[in-house]
Amino acid sequence: MPTINVYTELSPEEKEAKKDYIDRHSPFIAVAKTAKAGEKLAVNIRLGKDYSHPDDTDHYINEIKLFDKETLLATATLLSGINGGHGNKGQAEVTFFIVPQKNLRLTALVYCTKHGLWQNDPIEVAVS
Ligand SMILES: [Fe+2]
Repeated sequence: MPTINVYTELSPEEKEAKKDYIDRHSPFIAVAKTAKAGEKLAVNIRLGKDYSHPDDTDHYINEIKLFDKETLLATATLLSGINGGHGNKGQAEVTFFIVPQKNLRLTALVYCTKHGLWQNDPIEVAVS
């Protein structure tokens, strides 16, 4: 079982020292703060806010999962080369479309083939 990395558990000093490493492994969810029940909602997940992760054959982002609380809603499997392969700087990114029925608490979990699992802080979406 790979380690699950939660960047919020690091001290401010560790965060600063490992800023680029943490950023390029961390999923960032972009989603509206409010949504209507029964209507389609786009949930974008991107790896790295300011830095991009390698896309090498032995080191790449392999999986992006989206959870609502403890429920798995979606999984995307990525293979090496999707962002141009070795030497390219594209950021792994996916957009899922979901239809919420009640308030959401969204978390993304991503898997790097070399550095394990990474998750973000949960994002709340008010559904009415
Ligand atoms: Fe990595």
